[in-house]
Amino acid sequence: MNRSFLFVPGNSERKLEKAATTGADALIIDLEDSVTADNRPAARKITAAYLQGENQQQIWVRINALDTSDAIEDLRTIIPSSPFGIVLPKPRNASDTNQLAKLCEALEAENDLPLGKIKILPIATENPAAIFSLHEYTTASDRLAGLTWGAEDLSTALGATATRENGRWLGPYELARSLCLFAASASAVPAIDTVYTDFKDLEGLEKYAATANRDGFEGMLAIHPDQIPVINEAFRPSPTVIERSERIVELFRQNPDSGAIAMDGEMIDRPHWLKAKRILKIVERNK
Ligand code: COA
Ligand code: MG
Repeated sequence: MNRSFLFVPGNSERKLEKAATTGADALIIDLEDSVTADNRPAARKITAAYLQGENQQQIWVRINALDTSDAIEDLRTIIPSSPFGIVLPKPRNASDTNQLAKLCEALEAENDLPLGKIKILPIATENPAAIFSLHEYTTASDRLAGLTWGAEDLSTALGATATRENGRWLGPYELARSLCLFAASASAVPAIDTVYTDFKDLEGLEKYAATANRDGFEGMLAIHPDQIPVINEAFRPSPTVIERSERIVELFRQNPDSGAIAMDGEMIDRPHWLKAKRILKIVERNK
């Protein structure tokens, strides 16, 4: 999976051009909240044209929520240009992902595209009701490629006046973030942390992204090019962590009959081994 996903408003050719030079592992071209209704038809066309160009990055498109009439219009214009995946905002539950999978399948067939290729990344916590069924992602469509979460729409739905205090998430959002992490892990897909909206505060972002990496997120959403190097660095396992992981994997290879082994005066058992293998897989993927 990717470390950084940069949101780019779908109606901005200038930002799309710039986005290609940012070093972001993936782009999310937005047709939803950062584009006004009036600009949406133009944004769809610009996005489709961009998808047909020579792109080095993985390109995702955030469509509108499935309970809007915009969603199907978004898909009809975008799918023929084969995006890598669709980012789904405000899902009501995991069934929305399955419904989107069916729509993708129908449009892939209609456009003679390979079936099942287009992936889905839901922003799983924007709707308060969705919080109660996050476990359902464990049986969602194979197109599910990760789970991410969002605080802004959730707080609007709650009628809240703030999401953070002194730079830290308030309780409801900390809970949503943790549940997203658990649901992704239980569904065997990467968890992607949400945007850090104060894009001038790169020091704060660095600290935040370090905690996201520590907690088990594999990457993070971004809204500004300046955030990309900070995020990419934060999710790159350090040389010390890589070296330790290699030693753990090697130790278990040499001792296939041991469940627990001592290393540097510390007990190492199966969870350590699994974690070490996971880190080496991430290193391999990001080469
Ligand atoms: N993708 C690509 N390029 C971007 C960008 C983005 N998300 N955000 C800014 N840039 C570009 C600007 O166009 C500018 O380039 P230029 O000087 O060549 O025109 C440069 O980076 C510096 O931008 P800056 O002046 O610091 O910011 P801004 O005032 O132009 O834009 C935002 C600020 C927040 C409006 C902008 O970052 C943005 O649109 N972010 C994405 C919003 C979004 O998609 N939200 C939905 C998900 S929450
Ligand atoms: Mg939103």
